[in-house]
Amino acid sequence: MTNVPTIKLNNGVEMPQLGFGVFQVPDLAECEAAVLAALKAGYRLLDTATAYRNEEAVGRAIQKSGVPRDEIFVTSKLWVSDFTYDRAKKGIDASLQRLGLDYLDLYLLHQPYGDTMGAWRALEEAYQAGKIRAIGVSNFYADQLKNLELTMNVKPVVNQIEVNPWYQQPTEVAFNQSDDVRVEAWAPFAEGQHGVFTDPAITAIAQAHGKTTGQVILRWLLQRGITVIPKSVHRERMVENMDVFDFELSPAEMQAMAALDRQESQFFDHRDPVTIEQIFGSSLKQLKE
Ligand SMILES: NC(=O)c1ccc[n+]([C@@H]2O[C@H](COP(=O)([O-])OP(=O)(O)OC[C@H]3O[C@@H](n4cnc5c(N)ncnc54)[C@H](OP(=O)(O)O)[C@@H]3O)[C@@H](O)[C@H]2O)c1
Repeated sequence: MTNVPTIKLNNGVEMPQLGFGVFQVPDLAECEAAVLAALKAGYRLLDTATAYRNEEAVGRAIQKSGVPRDEIFVTSKLWVSDFTYDRAKKGIDASLQRLGLDYLDLYLLHQPYGDTMGAWRALEEAYQAGKIRAIGVSNFYADQLKNLELTMNVKPVVNQIEVNPWYQQPTEVAFNQSDDVRVEAWAPFAEGQHGVFTDPAITAIAQAHGKTTGQVILRWLLQRGITVIPKSVHRERMVENMDVFDFELSPAEMQAMAALDRQESQFFDHRDPVTIEQIFGSSLKQLKE
């Protein structure tokens, strides 16, 4: 079984460099089976969210796995419909309850919209009370991150953002890293879009190392100092995606990967007003209740 190295976050907590994501696994039985298989394969970081509606399944798999709780790094996220101080306090407890846990290892603000400061204050209090070992953000651009840091007391440890061969975000990654905020890549495979698994340049590198294209992509991200959370419901792919710690891309190969950047999100531009309306607009009614 692959042993995944850990990194130290800016608050001293150790986090595995590679984990397992469960976005778009809404069927709870399928999610539970996938997480159980992932834990069996050796994954020790799990990434779920209130918005994925599968925290219960993740919690059940943790319980059934027999893996000691303190060996698993559990991440979840607060959705924008809970971005007020009062709602966030309840949202944190609701995540804990659905997961069946008495603490979370990492809890993130899922999006940079609405009353992020109020929600962050609730996360800070839960952190200080020992309910959450580390707190962070997701989809925050550098200016939004800096604004939060300057306004609030506890600095985020992680910023989970889209990073994959088509959208490499070198400037954002460099800013987070220079600010001692760990970058965690979501959609490291761009969810397979634009033939990422059959791209000729990535295939050539894979062949040179006797690895798969998926393994090359994860290795490239790890060598950029980025944590990865690939998702798969297939056991053999879970094993494959972990087996990335026994080879290294050369500087020329890293450059060939860098040349693939299309400099455009494969999903949403978080700064586009239409995207903001789509993600945040439907929560406004709830927030006013
Ligand atoms: N913070 C955010 O806003 C945000 C947004 C999106 C995602 N995330 C997190 O990031 C995690 C990963 O992102 P993602 O799930 O969107 O996409 P992803 O990991 O880039 O891609 C997952 C897709 O790739 C396939 N796949 C996985 N390993 C493969 C392999 N070795 N060979 C071929 N195909 C493979 C999977 O298929 P099968 O499952 O059928 O194997 C699935 O269709 C999520 O699960 C979630 O935890 C966070």
